[in-house]
Amino acid sequence: MSAAALVLAACCSQPKFDGPVYLNPNAPIEDRVEDALARMTLEEKVGMTTAQSKFSSRGVPRLGIPEVWHTDGPHGIRPEVLWDDWDQAGWTNDSCTAFPALVNLAATWDKEMSYLYGVSIGEEARYRKKDILLGPGVNICRTPLNGRNFEYMGEDPYLAGQMVVPYVKGVQEQGVAACVKHFAVNNQEFQRTQSNSVVDDRTLHEIYLPAFKAAVQEGNAWAIMGSYNLYNGQFNCHNKKLLVDILKGDWGFDGVVVSDWGGCRDSEEAVLNGLDIEMGTWTNGLRGAASDSYRNYHMADPYLKGLREGKYTTKELDDKARRILRTIFRTSMRPEPNYGRFVCPEHYQAAREISAAGVVLLKNEDNVLPLDVPKDGKILVVGENAVKKMVVGGGSSNLKTAYEINPLEGLQNAFEGVAEVEWVRGYVGDTSTSYNLVDTGQDLADSRSPEVLIAEAVNAAKDADYVIFIGGLNKSAHQDNESTDRYDTMLPYDQQDVIDALAAVADKFVVVNISGSPVSMPWADRADAIVQGWYGGTESGNALADVLTGKVNPSGRLPFSIPFKYSDGPIRTIAQYPGIKEEGDQFWQTHYSEGVYVGYRWYDSRNIPAQWPFGHGLSYTSFEYGNAKASKASMTADGTMKVSVDVRNVGACDGAEVVQLYISDPVASVDRPAKELKGFEKVFLKAGEKKTVTFEIDAEALSFYDMSKSAWNAEPGEFQAHFASSSTDVRATVSFELK
Ligand code: GLC
Repeated sequence: MSAAALVLAACCSQPKFDGPVYLNPNAPIEDRVEDALARMTLEEKVGMTTAQSKFSSRGVPRLGIPEVWHTDGPHGIRPEVLWDDWDQAGWTNDSCTAFPALVNLAATWDKEMSYLYGVSIGEEARYRKKDILLGPGVNICRTPLNGRNFEYMGEDPYLAGQMVVPYVKGVQEQGVAACVKHFAVNNQEFQRTQSNSVVDDRTLHEIYLPAFKAAVQEGNAWAIMGSYNLYNGQFNCHNKKLLVDILKGDWGFDGVVVSDWGGCRDSEEAVLNGLDIEMGTWTNGLRGAASDSYRNYHMADPYLKGLREGKYTTKELDDKARRILRTIFRTSMRPEPNYGRFVCPEHYQAAREISAAGVVLLKNEDNVLPLDVPKDGKILVVGENAVKKMVVGGGSSNLKTAYEINPLEGLQNAFEGVAEVEWVRGYVGDTSTSYNLVDTGQDLADSRSPEVLIAEAVNAAKDADYVIFIGGLNKSAHQDNESTDRYDTMLPYDQQDVIDALAAVADKFVVVNISGSPVSMPWADRADAIVQGWYGGTESGNALADVLTGKVNPSGRLPFSIPFKYSDGPIRTIAQYPGIKEEGDQFWQTHYSEGVYVGYRWYDSRNIPAQWPFGHGLSYTSFEYGNAKASKASMTADGTMKVSVDVRNVGACDGAEVVQLYISDPVASVDRPAKELKGFEKVFLKAGEKKTVTFEIDAEALSFYDMSKSAWNAEPGEFQAHFASSSTDVRATVSFELK
């Protein structure tokens, strides 16, 4: 062989890895798993299945296999906490980028925004050397009162499913496992560790599982978090039907099931029913207990004892260890090391873009928006939510950030040197400013009476060109807050009194509701314009200002229905929510007796108008639909067909329309919702531009879950495809037949 060939050969061949297979980054992952497993002792395998601290679980030190670091949350990387405590450890290098709440992401209806989100937050997790990101959450907004709706992706399983997949992919491309939560039918915070969700199979498969199924089968999620509640009488962190039969059996999930913190309640069930890593079990860790009480975890010494006494074989243990090893070889020991990025300009820009893309313009009478302020004019901003920093609090999604731009600062930034932006309090809501020792640094104390505050606002409004009331909810108890639910859907803190008073004197009156869950608006006719804003994260205020000023043309659409009042909704009995606990019952029983009639499925099918319907959102331009057609008159169950519609921007400015595809099955053997979302696409159109939007329909889009067959079923007959700008704004319909 010539010298050149020798050199070439030497350069091209991989350096021969002469270490053990499990340490070879280029070896097939399953070979690495089997090699590592064969080298591990019984104690080492058991050790991996439980926590060793508040947010880490064991590796195998002897073999150089790293421990697994878990981190909250869905919106950003939680500040480092103490070894065994929720309070932050006081590090000075862990102020993260706070991304928008997931409901804000869902409101973008933009899969590219979801991927950008996943990549960005994944880079922050990787940089902080975290292996499992405890998020995203995709529990369905069954009741507007659920304290954690802000952490989830709305009321529709198809929207949540399509929006969670790109997020999961983006995170996992950074070598970080997304841990999709909380699996499953965990749709309230009231008695979340003591309530049993009673759900029929059709409802379970049509409403509460699809987003998780998409995350696993389309997003290839590497981790799933079991939820605190029970389903069918078994705790979900070790629920055989959900974890063994459906998740790992039917869906072929090959990752790890992580318990919610303290969600593991039984040793034998944990071993046999599919739990892989037990976290946060109610011990006080290294403090207070006589010895290392992590050894007392259900899958620690009790498991080892059961194995040694022959109560268990190593069958389940080897499966758990394989899944944990697979996760480690996908994350900390992944083939191509990368190092992520943290609090970089690109992440701040991503947070700002995503949040703005999800802001929803609900009403815009006489086009009072975008703001048109005369030179040296005045904008009066009223309300606590204009200044209250929102990334602190709310529970496990609590974040510490280097800065947070609130709406007032966003507007001041936008109008600096152009117009005066004055602020008055308007009302006093929640003056707390810290959580888990994370502090916003604000002082929101204000002892003035509501009368004084309203008088001040009314007086200031008199010479303002615009009055912008910015209120809504916050992250305190019984607002948008983990472990508590709201009591009703109305604005708290008597904000309506302020709105009424301002409406009487304001020239141009805009109301911005900042919340993570539906807020009813009986005062809506008194505002010229209404905007649904969200917890937008670090750049929240700039994102909102971008929309109000017209720098960004609003294109958000509601991911949930907003009712005129709570009682219009499908929850009509306390058995449905918050549930009932009868004499002798060990747990609360929450009956999902509304079945599949959740959100718009209820309002449309019962002809009860929602105040603001699912999918609703205005633009500063307008769009016309036309030329709707089906590629053929009929399709077969094993085939597909295309339906398309032309959309034209007929307004004066560029914008984006979310074309929504709803399917109706007018004649079916079971009662079905009037229409169901089965497709959507956000199209960006320049003024005057037209595009054709095409959807491909398969039998899955036509099916219901047939309890008589325990399977999905698409019944032959007529179907309708509706092209819509919201669940109640159908612009065109085509009919076709399923043979
Ligand atoms: C909390 C939450 C879960 C979070 C975990 C760790 O109780 O339910 O979402 O990831 O515990 O903080």
